[in-house]
Formats: sequence, structure tokens, C-alpha cells
Amino acid sequence: MNVLLLGSGGREHALAWKIAASPLLTRFYASPGNPGIGRFAELVKLDISDHSVVAAFCQEKKIDLVVVGPEAPLVAGIADDLRAWGIRVFGPSKAAARLEGSKGFTKDLCARFNIPTAAYGRFSDLASARAYVEKTGAPIVIKADGLAAGKGVTVAMTLPEAVAALEACFDGSFGAAGAEVVVEEYMTGEEASFFCLCDGTTALPFGTAQDHKRVGDGDVGLNTGGMGAYSPAPVMTQQMTERTMREIIEPTMRGMAEIGAPFSGILFAGLMITDSGPKLIEYNARFGDPECQVLMMRLKDDLLVLLNAAVDGQLAHMSVRWSDEAALTVVMAARGYPGTPEKGSVIRGLDDAEQDGAQIFHAGTAMNSGALVANGGRVLNVTATGGTVGEAQKKAYEAVDHIDWPEGFFRHDIGWRAVEREKA
Ligand code: AMP
Ligand code: GLY
Repeated sequence: MNVLLLGSGGREHALAWKIAASPLLTRFYASPGNPGIGRFAELVKLDISDHSVVAAFCQEKKIDLVVVGPEAPLVAGIADDLRAWGIRVFGPSKAAARLEGSKGFTKDLCARFNIPTAAYGRFSDLASARAYVEKTGAPIVIKADGLAAGKGVTVAMTLPEAVAALEACFDGSFGAAGAEVVVEEYMTGEEASFFCLCDGTTALPFGTAQDHKRVGDGDVGLNTGGMGAYSPAPVMTQQMTERTMREIIEPTMRGMAEIGAPFSGILFAGLMITDSGPKLIEYNARFGDPECQVLMMRLKDDLLVLLNAAVDGQLAHMSVRWSDEAALTVVMAARGYPGTPEKGSVIRGLDDAEQDGAQIFHAGTAMNSGALVANGGRVLNVTATGGTVGEAQKKAYEAVDHIDWPEGFFRHDIGWRAVEREKA
């Protein structure tokens, strides 16, 4: 079959790597892709925001499946528009992608279908939001309702911080995404990322991971899209997975079907494992980045077969096999990230780094006069597997040492929590 993959990050490189390994694949295109993806797929320049341009390309190239990596096109309704042209798409409809596109929508769904999550209020003006925050007290969490590239959440430990965050939202710091605000109870516990492959009716557990959101060693500093991840998440025992399916995922699938927005694609639940069990922090309507990279390292089955089954509503008949090994990825970022990253510095040594079995996924790279250069904030995902998280960590950092890129930086402690558990 002919496949078009949309996106350009490390997540999409990992998806491309697995899709390319499928015997079902005939022709493979990616847009816009990156130099790593270009090893497997023909890169095409399409204006992805113009869905009719994507549809025309699919018709011309006889594309049998479009795989959408990032959330923005999904929230904008690309899956609906392509389906209207008769094109098969892996990814949720616009109505179903509201699980990521509107935090208030998800909170209301949780309330209606009894899904455990933090207590909350929804507000569209400063005065009433402020009154709620003052009544509830700190610590408290303030969230812009819409997509804000991971920057719309403030965990406020004090009341003045909470009020400042409300003011920023209503002052337009997040544009339209902050016109409405969700204020949430502060939850404590260990976080985990839980993935399900969904076909509108059936949700098939699709791996667990933990990521490191803060930019600095020891989980300090600014929030990022993720500086590294590992899989599986030790906190997601079989019992915790069963509870999550029963208490969170299955009611969500039923609820979405009931409101006429059945979810198909990847449902990514950000969980807080609290003393009273798993609670939903948020949903995403796509794979995590860099979580996808570690999941793909461990997936034993043909990804294309699974994506097709999701599109065709056939997941009830499928199972998924994972390697028993752990996988870990270290994000190498360009100086300046998560602020404005420096672009254009030359990166060398990738072949050396991959010699001992590590996989390097490109996240923000470009070719310039035959040289590989940095072209984004998160630039490379250096990924390895091992019998334990500790072994995977050792292999990944050995590979990082081979990369010659003085303008890059990375965290030195990815996986620390799991490695400490293994030592105990
Ligand atoms: P989100 O973008 O919703 O995943 O939030 C980003 C991060 O903020 C999460 O990974 C948590 O660390 C933290 N967070 C979000 N909501 C809460 C909450 N209700 N209680 C405690 N921490 C939270
Ligand atoms: N790594 C977190 C995310 O993809 O949202």
C-alpha cells in the first residue's frame, strides 16, 4: 500500500522507521518530513493547512493511508476533510480531537461519565476565575483551554502565582487558546503516559512511558515538550493498567461514542497515579513525542497492520506484542531551547553513535550544503534498548558521547526514577 505520513519530528521519524519495515508498504511519502525520515520516504512539500492540497496529492499518488503525527492538523479537522474525499486516515475526527484541543471539553466529559480527574472550574472572565482561585487556595493549577504548545499550564504553588497565570491567559498570552481557562485541583503522585490504539469502539492498550518535561537535570527549570523518555513505566503495573482501562479509557470511549464523536487513532492519557488510584491529567489525540520513539523500539508487530485495523474498526480482533526490553531516549536540543534555539550549527558523528545498536531519530534537523545541521529546538533523539532501564540508559548515553555537536545540550539523568527503583 501507498502511505503518506504528515509531520516532521522525532515522533514521525520513529513512525516512518516502523512503517518502512512493513511488508505491506509499496510507496512511502512524508510531508514535510526531515532528513532522517528522508531515508525511508520521499519528502514532499505540501501546505498541510490546506486540506484540499493534501487530498489532491493523495488522489494523484493513489495514497491508501494517511498517518497524521501532530495534533494541530487533527484539531483543524484534516481527518474529516480527507475522509470526505474518500481517503483513509489514521487519526481522530475534529470532534474527537477535542479531547486534546479543549481542556474544558475533556473535563466536562470526565464529569459526565464519572472519569477520575482533578476537581475543576471553567471560566471565561478574570473576575470569576480569580474568585474561584481565592476561595480554593494554592497550590492550584491554571490551564489555557486550547492548544498552547505545552506552555498553557501553570502549576501555581502560591495564590499570587495563580492570579498572575490567570491574568496572563486573559491578557492574551496564549491568544485564542487562553480566552477560556480551566482551574484545577492540584494532584500529587507519580505521572505516567498511557497509550491506546482506538478504532471508535475498541481501545487496545498500546504501551506506557514516562517522560521528563523540565529542561534541567533533577527535573528543574522550564517546561519543554520532553527532554527524554523511557518505556515501560514501572508504575503502570498490570493492575494499574487494568484500573486505567476500566475507570478512565473505557468510559471515555463509551462517552465519545455516545456524544457522536467516536475516537479513533491514538489516545494518549497523561495520568497521575495518586494514593487513591489513576487520575486523568489530560488527553492528547496523537502519539507523545518523545514517547513514541521508545514505544516503536519495543513494538514487535507490524505497525502498518495495526494502523489499518484501527482505521477499519477491526481492533477487537487484534493483539499487540512488545519486547521485554526497556527502551530509553535522550533528547539532544539546541542551545536556547525551550526559548529561541540557535539554528544552523553542524552535527557530526551520527554513524559512529549508531554503531553499537542505538537508533538516532531526527527531530529538528536539516541538510545544508551536504552537512547535517540543527533546525529546531529538540534536534536528535538518541535511543537504545536494554535488559533494564539502567542498561538502556547506559547504551543511549554512550551513543550520545559519539555525537560531535558542541552547540547542543542534553539532560544527563533521563530515566533516573526507574534506575533508582531497579537498584533498590
Ligand atoms: P498538561 O499539559 O495538562 O499535561 O500539564 C503539564 C504538566 O503540569 C503535567 O505533566 C503535570 O506535571 C502538571 N499538572 C497538570 N495538571 C495538574 C494537576 N491537576 N495537578 C498537578 N499537576 C498537574
Ligand atoms: N511528550 C509529551 C507530549 O508529546 O505531549
